[in-house]
Amino acid sequence: MTANEVIVDLGAIRHNFFEIKRRAGRETRILCVVKSEAYGHGLLPVAKTLESAGVDSLGVFELDEALNLRKAGCKVPILIMMGIMPEEVSAVVENNLTAAIFQKDIADKLSAAALSRGAVVPVHVKVDTGMTRLGVPAEWVADFLQSLLPLKGIRLEGIFSHLAVADEPDHPFTGRQIRTFLQAVEESRRLGVCTDAVHIANSGALLGKRGLDLGMVRPGILLYGSPPAEGWAAAASFKPAMTFKSRIIQVRTVPAGTSISYGRAYTTGSRSTIAAIPVGYDDGYSRMISNNGEVLVRGKRVPVVGRVCMNLTMADVSLLEAVSVGDEVVLLGTQGKERITAEEIAKRIGTISYEIYCSIGKSNLRTYIGSQDAARE
Ligand SMILES: Cc1ncc(COP(=O)(O)O)c(C=O)c1O
Repeated sequence: MTANEVIVDLGAIRHNFFEIKRRAGRETRILCVVKSEAYGHGLLPVAKTLESAGVDSLGVFELDEALNLRKAGCKVPILIMMGIMPEEVSAVVENNLTAAIFQKDIADKLSAAALSRGAVVPVHVKVDTGMTRLGVPAEWVADFLQSLLPLKGIRLEGIFSHLAVADEPDHPFTGRQIRTFLQAVEESRRLGVCTDAVHIANSGALLGKRGLDLGMVRPGILLYGSPPAEGWAAAASFKPAMTFKSRIIQVRTVPAGTSISYGRAYTTGSRSTIAAIPVGYDDGYSRMISNNGEVLVRGKRVPVVGRVCMNLTMADVSLLEAVSVGDEVVLLGTQGKERITAEEIAKRIGTISYEIYCSIGKSNLRTYIGSQDAARE
C-alpha cells in the first residue's frame, strides 16, 4: 500500500555516528553494527553514510549482507559476526571479508582457501565471556588461539566478546564479563596475537563508559537514535532516524455502543469518529498494539481502538476537528510538537526498540532524507 512510508533520516545517522565518536574518544575506532538491514533502516544507504563519515569497520550478521556491501562498492573492513559456513570460505577470501572465528575446522578451511589464492585473511576470534550465545568459552581461549597459530592463511587481527546486560547501568555482571575478556586479551598478547582490534562495547557499554579503553567499540542501536534500554538520560543527544507514516483512508462517525474490528475488542462509549489507517501487522505494526497504542493525527495523539488487523488499524479521532481522508498519520516519529518513539511502542507491547525498528523498517517501502555523503560534522 503506497500510503505507507518509512522515512530514514541519514543526517540523523551521521549525527549519531559523530556523537558515538565523540563519546568513544579520539583514538577509539568504531565498528558500526549494520546487521539486519541496519536494524531495519536499510543496509546500503546506512553503510554508505557511515563510510563517508569515516567509519572504521562495519559489522553484519552473515555473509550475504557482507557480499551486498562489497557489491555496492563498500571498501571498509566488514566483520561477519555470526561466523561463516564451510562453503562460504572462498567468498570470504575473494571479497576480503573478516570472519568471526570460534571453530577450528572453519579456521582450517578458511586458511587453506586463502593460501590457495596466495592470500592471508584477517579474522576476529569471538570469545564467550558469559552471554552463552556464540564464541569460544573464555577458559579455552588460550588453547584455541594456540591451535590457530600454525594457520598461515589467516591473520589473528582481532578478539571480541559480547555483553549480556550492558544496557542495565551498574549491573555487576558487565564488570565480570569485561574482566574475563581482559584475561583472554592478555592470553592473546602473551601468544603474540590479536593486539589490533579488541572490542566488547555495545551501545549500553558506550553510554555506561565500560570497555572504552580497548581501542574499538561496536555500537548498533545508538546509531539509529535509541538508547539500548529505558532510563539512559545520556542518550538524549542521539536523534531517532526512522519515521513511519501513513494516511487516513476512511473516516466515519458511529453511535455509542459500536464495536470496532475483529473480536469486538473495543466498543465506543459515546458517538465517535473513527479513522481507518492502511497499516497492520503485515507492515510490522504489531497486533499487540491493539487497544494499546497511539498515533499522531493533525499534531495530536489519538488512541488506536480495536484490534490491529493484517493491513488496517483504526484510531479514534473524535477529539480532533475536521479530520479527513488523506490526512497524514504518524505511527512512529514526530508530527508537530508530538513524538512517538520506538521505545514508547516497545514499552507498551513488552518488547525493545530494536524489534520495532526491524519489523517496521523491513516491511515497508523506505525513502531517505539527508545526504549520505554530506560534509563531515
Ligand atoms: C555481536 C553484537 N555486537 C554488537 C551489537 C550492537 O548492540 P547494540 O545495538 O545494543 O549497540 C550487537 C547487537 O545485537 C551484536 O549482536
